Amino acid sequence: MKLIISETINDSSELVAQKIISLVNSTKNPLLGLVTGGTVVPLYANLVKNYEQGKVSFSEIRTVNLDEYVGLDQKDHQSFAFFMNQHLFNKTNFNSSNIFLVDGTGQINSELERFDNFLTNNIIDLQLLGIGTNGHIGFNEPSSTFILPPHLVSLAQETINSNSHFFSEGEVMPTQAITMGIRDIMRAREVVLLAFGKAKANVIHRLFTETCVDPNLPCSILKLRDQVTIYIDRELATETGIEDCLSFTK
Ligand code: PGA
Repeated sequence: MKLIISETINDSSELVAQKIISLVNSTKNPLLGLVTGGTVVPLYANLVKNYEQGKVSFSEIRTVNLDEYVGLDQKDHQSFAFFMNQHLFNKTNFNSSNIFLVDGTGQINSELERFDNFLTNNIIDLQLLGIGTNGHIGFNEPSSTFILPPHLVSLAQETINSNSHFFSEGEVMPTQAITMGIRDIMRAREVVLLAFGKAKANVIHRLFTETCVDPNLPCSILKLRDQVTIYIDRELATETGIEDCLSFTK
């Protein structure tokens, strides 16, 4: 696991955007594992800017998203499908036939089977991840069952609390989701995790200082892989004292 600290969120987002662009420009039909959430909004804006400047084309790129709320239609503005269209797909030249999204209103078992088939037959070249304050990656919440294929999850209360600010009064936040499991996240050729701001300081501190791989801290599985890079901003680094931790644990 590597750690890259940038001064600002925009600096980190620029580094990750350049990494994606160089993969896109050097690989035939790469498969990108995409993520939603406030963390990646600046990253997707950066990719859109590069597309508008003619520096990258996404027409041959395949994508798969990590997760989707159960019960939300792709046109529902709270669905992750809507988020992807709004922030990336509709602003660039991604080809809709190359995009894999879970249908939150589909029959759950058939969606799980469709997702599993896709991930069994395709290897992700680069998987993007955010992280929950409880250490979840995708919607793999702290749990005693750890390494699973795509599955249905009941969201942890901490996740509901963190994400409920995206929902306005009167909107009901779903409490279940379909998520890619740890098994398939770990099969990706490379993983990039982004975490910014003070709210993520505690979980990033735990990730780098706790010595066990622990199902109660799902992100801890990433310690087992070399091809994992964590991008954080200076505010988070300072809050967590991570540089001191790293020099201490060397
Ligand atoms: P956030 O979500 O980017 O909105 O903080 C990340 C996550 O929960 O994985």
